[in-house]
Amino acid sequence: MESSLAERAKGGPFHMVTPLLESWALSQVAGTTVLLKCENVQPAGSFKVRGIGHFCQEFANRARRAPFCSRTGGNAGIAAAYCARKLGVPATIVLPEGASQRVVRRLQGEGAEVQLSGKVWDEANLRAQELAKRDGWVNVPPFDHPLIWEGHASLVRELKAALGSPPGALVLAVGGGGLLAGVSAGLAEVGWQHVPIVAVETRGAHCFHAAVEAGRLVTLSNITSVAKCLGAKTVAARALECTQEFKVLSAVVEDSEAVKAVQRFLDDERMLVEPACGAALAAVYSGLLGRLQAEGRLGPSLASVVVIVCGGNSISSQELQALKAQLGLG
Ligand SMILES: Cc1ncc(COP(=O)(O)O)c(C=O)c1O
Repeated sequence: MESSLAERAKGGPFHMVTPLLESWALSQVAGTTVLLKCENVQPAGSFKVRGIGHFCQEFANRARRAPFCSRTGGNAGIAAAYCARKLGVPATIVLPEGASQRVVRRLQGEGAEVQLSGKVWDEANLRAQELAKRDGWVNVPPFDHPLIWEGHASLVRELKAALGSPPGALVLAVGGGGLLAGVSAGLAEVGWQHVPIVAVETRGAHCFHAAVEAGRLVTLSNITSVAKCLGAKTVAARALECTQEFKVLSAVVEDSEAVKAVQRFLDDERMLVEPACGAALAAVYSGLLGRLQAEGRLGPSLASVVVIVCGGNSISSQELQALKAQLGLG
């Protein structure tokens, strides 16, 4: 007999407990122990499967009759398509025009229908919302939902289990702010709310930094960064609230720093990640952590630094070469 949706939802969680690896090369650069939380090895290629998996499971548990459909973009889309396949429900994913063909093929490989709409993520998201409303399907939010944050918080529980005591700092990339909000929730849950979070964006996708500077949400007129997966025009309100409750240090790196970090990380650790993740890695490679220490915003001697290697599917060796050429990095 075929199993019900709720039964299949019980088969989760859809994410894996990821390795926490000490990086000799990054530790050399940072002058302290750097630990890599390897979200790049998640089954859908990024941390997104934590929050989206949790969201989909919750909805599958509630929607006992009708199958649901998810519509979102990029790594979030791949995570949603992956979870939908595991649950045996259809998924339609809306991506901005110009999305990588490899990502489109990956989504189709997961059995999802792909629609291209709008120039940037926000426009694709509007289309997704319209379609979900029209057809009564579930719109899986990529970053702005409490269930997404609850799901991402599992990452911090794993850190607590692996480390026991808190790290000196945590480094992560910010797009729409879901990872930041989820990690903050996790820190509060395990009693580590004092751990500084270095929240990195690339210039041209810096909606969180703009909001922190202005003290209110800011909508960027355009996304100009090559780190397209960080390209939300407005950050989630919860991410901005986190700056009041946690020690969040917002920082912006250049695209060239993020892409150089991707190349160095590939050479150092033999792992290829997309520029969105390069932004977090650039905090170490470009000396940002040292500058924050020199400014007194981070303590002078950090016990260890955890970098969330958020992963990402939008990269291949060819695309990395093209990005380097585009940015004049030779
Ligand atoms: C690889 C990667 N890193 C970081 C982020 C940023 O996550 P958030 O939108 O939750 O801030 C994204 C968002 O899609 C991503 O795909």
